[in-house]
Amino acid sequence: MLGAIWAQSLDGVIGDGTEMPWHLPEDLKHFKEITLGHPIIMGRRTWESLPTRPLPGRTNHVLSSREPGAWSRGAYVSPDLPDLEADAWILGGAQVYEATIDEVDVIERTLIDVHPDLPASRAVYAPRIDDEFELVWEGNWETSKSDGLRYKFQRFERKQ
Ligand SMILES: NC(=O)c1ccc[n+]([C@@H]2O[C@H](COP(=O)([O-])OP(=O)(O)OC[C@H]3O[C@@H](n4cnc5c(N)ncnc54)[C@H](OP(=O)(O)O)[C@@H]3O)[C@@H](O)[C@H]2O)c1
Repeated sequence: MLGAIWAQSLDGVIGDGTEMPWHLPEDLKHFKEITLGHPIIMGRRTWESLPTRPLPGRTNHVLSSREPGAWSRGAYVSPDLPDLEADAWILGGAQVYEATIDEVDVIERTLIDVHPDLPASRAVYAPRIDDEFELVWEGNWETSKSDGLRYKFQRFERKQ
């Protein structure tokens, strides 16, 4: 099983090119519960955006054309999607979601009721989920205890 996991605003923004333009501890907890113990695969820019790297308790894989080095310590670097035996999760960002969505079986998406005020040149967007996928589970809208943001979790699976 190959999964993709992301959080997006209602209009599809996942980042500003450097980081996620919100702070939602409940989503970070959800992300950890889903990915812990599994290999994770991310683009070089997402790797560089991590506050702590590698992410602990997960084998970190970074997609990059660059040679591994000090920048990649703690991760495996490869120019292509690694062929992994175990269930693995794609962590983004936008370039990597776009490049891998056709291989993905499952999508875990967090919708956040927020409209980041970003110049168009900086906004980075989630891929479109086409009708190859179906929504198989959706939580209720919840309100963050941290700063009142509303959010909900969704799971999509590739149709059989
Ligand atoms: N909201 C969320 O859930 C979420 C999750 C993850 C990231 N983000 C956000 O997304 C933004 C980063 O996304 P991004 O699209 O700019 O960058 P990205 O996808 O993280 O990384 C792009 C880099 O990955 C490598 N790469 C991309 N596609 C590849 C492929 N098919 N094969 C091999 N290597 C490939 C290239 O590295 P080289 O240039 O080294 O070759 C490319 O420059 C940040 O704002 C981050 O905060 C948000």
